[in-house]
Amino acid sequence: MPTKIASVKDIPAGECIPVDAPDGRSIALYNVDGQIYAMNGVCPHAGGPLGEGSMEGSVVTCPWHGWSFDVKTGACENNPDVTVECPKITVVGDDVLVD
Ligand code: FES
Repeated sequence: MPTKIASVKDIPAGECIPVDAPDGRSIALYNVDGQIYAMNGVCPHAGGPLGEGSMEGSVVTCPWHGWSFDVKTGACENNPDVTVECPKITVVGDDVLVD
């Protein structure tokens, strides 16, 4: 059953936030031009917090060592063999729900 993990108003345009899903997963939420995207919040390089990175367009840069990821696809710009899982989310009104 989808569960609310955040409110859209908590994620300003062009920014990201880290959230903890009820099942313990760390999820990073991004607001790209008003559209909300989600990725696993743990950087595949060494575990950095991808919900605390800096954003430029749809690309977030990990605050620890600078790897960059497209939040729309999870694709890593530094290593084509690496992709971050993008959990399925739904936005209903102001609620961000995760499956
Ligand atoms: S932990 Fe993210 S770039 Fe190293």
